[in-house]
Amino acid sequence: MPAILAIDASPRGSASRSGQVGRMVVERLLRRSPDARLIVRPIGVEPLPHIDAAYAEAMETPEARRTAADRQALTRSEALIAELEATDRLVISTPMHNFTVPSTLKAWIDHVVRAHRSFALTPRGKQGLLADRPTYVIVSAGGLVSGDGPRQPDFVTPYLRHVLAVIGIHDVQFQVLEGLVRGPDAVQAAERSARAWLDRQLPEE
Ligand SMILES: Cc1cc2nc3c(=O)[nH]c(=O)nc-3n(C[C@H](O)[C@H](O)[C@H](O)COP(=O)(O)O)c2cc1C
Repeated sequence: MPAILAIDASPRGSASRSGQVGRMVVERLLRRSPDARLIVRPIGVEPLPHIDAAYAEAMETPEARRTAADRQALTRSEALIAELEATDRLVISTPMHNFTVPSTLKAWIDHVVRAHRSFALTPRGKQGLLADRPTYVIVSAGGLVSGDGPRQPDFVTPYLRHVLAVIGIHDVQFQVLEGLVRGPDAVQAAERSARAWLDRQLPEE
């Protein structure tokens, strides 16, 4: 059975604009695969714990030397990586917080991007150990990240592109909803652009 994993990093729950577009992506995926298993992780509202000292120790201990306590410290990471491995389509909705990903999304990344498990350290650098899969990332920003006007740096999309590639996920489509605090015209423009993106990525059948 195909599986969809939707990660929603907005703290604003159902009011989130990135989350709304993420849910539209999921709806279209489900129309194509009605029997798909859907897992939704609202990590912005129900945050994962940050990694701790036990995790950091266990991660760096070679598997053969890990104690029961080390294995216990990696349980959550193991479950989250297994959930991702079992996923055919990944959808990540996230606001920009202080130019980068919210700490809630960073916490998920720290559990999932793990040396010797989701990527290998090789003489040629880090090599992804997970299979590639179509991934949709919807980013929302109050200000602008493109255009000729005053704009801010975007450390969200290049960072996510890099960190997903490190674990083997390269097939990533981004949509940025920008200018969301700049009034109704900017919001409408962002929504129009998101609908056009959706129609390109997953046309109505
Ligand atoms: C803590 C915090 C930091 C933020 N930092 C930025 C920022 O650096 N740049 C920006 O454009 N918007 C920033 N915003 C605004 C959000 O990105 C914006 O409100 C976004 O559209 C909310 O997305 P959502 O509707 O998906 O929750 C910030 C908001 C919060 C709460």
